[in-house]
Amino acid sequence: MRFGLVGTGYWARVTHAPALARTEGTELTAVWGRDPRAAAELAGEYGATPYQDVSAFLAAIDAVSFAVPPDVQAPIATQAAREGKHLLLEKPVALTEAAADGMVEAVEQAGVASVVFFTQRFQPDVRAWLAEVHDRGGWTGGVSAWLGSALQESNPFNTPWRRDKGGLWDIGPHVVSLLWASLGPVTSVTADFGPADVTHLVLHHQDGATSTTTVTLSATTAAACAEAYVWGESGRLAAPLGSVDPVAALSAALSELVANARAGQTRHPCDVWFGRDVGRVLAEAQRQLDARRAGFA
Ligand SMILES: NC(=O)c1ccc[n+]([C@@H]2O[C@H](COP(=O)([O-])OP(=O)(O)OC[C@H]3O[C@@H](n4cnc5c(N)ncnc54)[C@H](OP(=O)(O)O)[C@@H]3O)[C@@H](O)[C@H]2O)c1
Repeated sequence: MRFGLVGTGYWARVTHAPALARTEGTELTAVWGRDPRAAAELAGEYGATPYQDVSAFLAAIDAVSFAVPPDVQAPIATQAAREGKHLLLEKPVALTEAAADGMVEAVEQAGVASVVFFTQRFQPDVRAWLAEVHDRGGWTGGVSAWLGSALQESNPFNTPWRRDKGGLWDIGPHVVSLLWASLGPVTSVTADFGPADVTHLVLHHQDGATSTTTVTLSATTAAACAEAYVWGESGRLAAPLGSVDPVAALSAALSELVANARAGQTRHPCDVWFGRDVGRVLAEAQRQLDARRAGFA
């Protein structure tokens, strides 16, 4: 399947391009970036063609892999879906509910396959943990803390949209996706803020379990961590979040996207509908944070 890569930044270079190059059934044939030199350089490394024009880029491929900020991803992904391209999306899928709804509608109408790269959901050890969580059952709740250091000056993820949106939108999608998959669909969220971009969430899950999480991008590297566990009648089960191989995880996501596209299967546990639903939780949390900051709640 001919893939085009949207984005030429750090994540595109260290994760998306290598994963596209190594995955059976995918071929990186086109690169789109707003910086023509960066697009030519990255495309050149993989024998792909660089593009400046989005329509010409889309016309030359079967599927798109995204590594750009969410507000840049959403409109291009919507156009791509309308043109029948399968989508490997990054989290969060969009920054507004309207943009996410538009993408879902385009995917639905075109009948294309979609997968959102909630990294941990594609790690074999986390999948084994989730299988055990489901086998055991009887969970009362979940607890998690994901303290990132992306906003430290020398961090390659210290990018404008992260400085603007903070941990809720960058790390929040991973945490909500994981708590949703382990404890069931999230039916409500309560959010409060701490210093800098520190955000606390309380989630209610469909079958009665509740979970809490703290996220930030402002931790020092000494304080950084990613921890989550569920607890209930059979004890406590911690998620193995210590080691991540993002290229292997993305390669798994790409393989599943290609298999679904070939089978005419549009649904996946991490498809664009799920990405939209996770985004709704974040958007509601953001509304509450904005109201609290303004002194209304
Ligand atoms: N799943 C994961 O674990 C994981 C990990 C890291 C990142 N991500 C996701 O990957 C995506 C990319 O992240 P990133 O760290 O590479 O940084 P980023 O700042 O989100 O994206 C960098 C890329 O986007 C381009 N870009 C920025 N603003 C643009 C605009 N207005 N129009 C067109 N292009 C624009 C940049 O172009 P210039 O170089 O010209 O500025 C660069 O190519 C994000 O959605 C992020 O959430 C996911």
